[in-house]
Formats: sequence, structure tokens, C-alpha cells
Amino acid sequence: MRRVLVAGNWKMHKVPSEARIWLAELKRLLPPLESEVAVLPAFPMLPVAREVLSGTQVAYGAQDVSPHREGAYTGEVSARMLADLGCRYTIVGHSERRRYHHETDALVAEKAKRLLEEGITPILCVGEPLEVRERGEAVPYTLRQLFESLEGVEPPGPERLVIAYEPVWAIGTGQNATPEDAESMHRAIRQALAELYGEGFARRVRILYGGSVNPKNFADLLSMPNVDGGLVGGASLELESFLSLLRIAG
Ligand code: G3H
Repeated sequence: MRRVLVAGNWKMHKVPSEARIWLAELKRLLPPLESEVAVLPAFPMLPVAREVLSGTQVAYGAQDVSPHREGAYTGEVSARMLADLGCRYTIVGHSERRRYHHETDALVAEKAKRLLEEGITPILCVGEPLEVRERGEAVPYTLRQLFESLEGVEPPGPERLVIAYEPVWAIGTGQNATPEDAESMHRAIRQALAELYGEGFARRVRILYGGSVNPKNFADLLSMPNVDGGLVGGASLELESFLSLLRIAG
């Protein structure tokens, strides 16, 4: 019922000339897939992604967007610009933005709204830091973040929103959440989405796991009933490991 999504978040890695070669190789080597695949490079790579990936089954999108529609906002990139470049997805609320750029839940909600206005599906990230998990408060913390980041956000359907659960302590550390811990958080998130948008929506919306996903742990994570794919950082940078993840997703 829910199509698996494997999304590679390149973060601030690669340059456009490298991306061109990498994406062309991905296109050449891509196995037949039932799951969906997306790459999320930094802004300067998006025109390259459009050029190389148009007409393929590989979607692409950005890692952030402005909360403003248009205007005198130096350095900002609008949802309309991303839509014009053909972005299908865009990340909002990644913990690195929340941490290094002090993004609040209210700001994340505004960004999600701008994306939806332009027909782009937000991949909205939530997840607890280590001290919160150690206090045993991971679920209430993450659900509060979810509710507040979705305040006033009205996706037209379950396929137009993706949630990514990314425990902060698992990102880039090599220490992934256990499949059981991921599953129990994903189940809680799905219940929360049922409260917000109704049962039918919650059953169909995709919830990705992110945080040290690699070809060794991905199959176990994906075997969990409420884990619908991965938001992958480090392991999406090397073509071989990204292809391994795609083969596992099938
Ligand atoms: O968006 C991706 C996540 O931050 C996970 O990154 O796979 O390098 O741990 P990672």
C-alpha cells in the first residue's frame, strides 16, 4: 500500500561537475525497481539533476526552502524556483538546520506550506537528541515537534507529505536506531498523523527512517511494518552503497 522511498540527502557534498557524472552513472546502473528513489543535492546541483534525470524514474529535490514566497530575501531560494526546476521533494526541518540555523517548528511549518503551494512534497524531519532519549522522553518530544511543525499544514493527500524520523544521535555517527526502536517511534508518529489528518491518511503516508542507514542495516530496518524507506546521508554519497540500498529496497 505504501511505496518504499529511498532518498539520498547529499548535504553539502559534491560539486555540479561531479554530480553530473555520478547521476549519469546512477541512471546507467539503476536496477528495475518497485520502490521510489530520490536524490537531494545542494541547490547548485538541481539544474544538473533536471538535465540528467528528466524522463527517468529518479526523482530529485532540495534540502531546504525559504519560508517566503518572493521578495527582498538575499540568499533565499523559493519554492517556486524549486518547482520550476522540477523538484518533486524537498527536505524541511532537518536537525542540522534546526541546530546550526536555529530553525523553529513554526518556521518549518511555513516552509512546508510554501512547498505544498507549489506542488512539492515536503520531507519533514523530526527526531530527538540523545539526552532526551536517555531521559526516556523520545516519543513525547518527537510528537510535539511533529505537531508543531505541521501546525496549519494541510497536505492535499497522503502522497503529498513524507515524514522522516531521524534521531539526532544516530545521524552520521554509525550508530543507527534498532529496528524495534525505529518501529515503535514510527508507529507513534503514524498514530499522531491519524489524529491530525484521519486514519485513511495515516495508513498511506510514508514515514522514513534516517540516521546511519547503510547496506548492512537497511534490510532489517525496512522489514519493520511502519518503516517505509530511508533518508540516507553518508551511504548515499558513494554510488555503490546507494545502489546496494536500492537493491535492498527492491
Ligand atoms: O538526512 C539524512 C540524515 O541526516 C542521515 O545521515 O545517513 O549520514 O547518518 P547519515
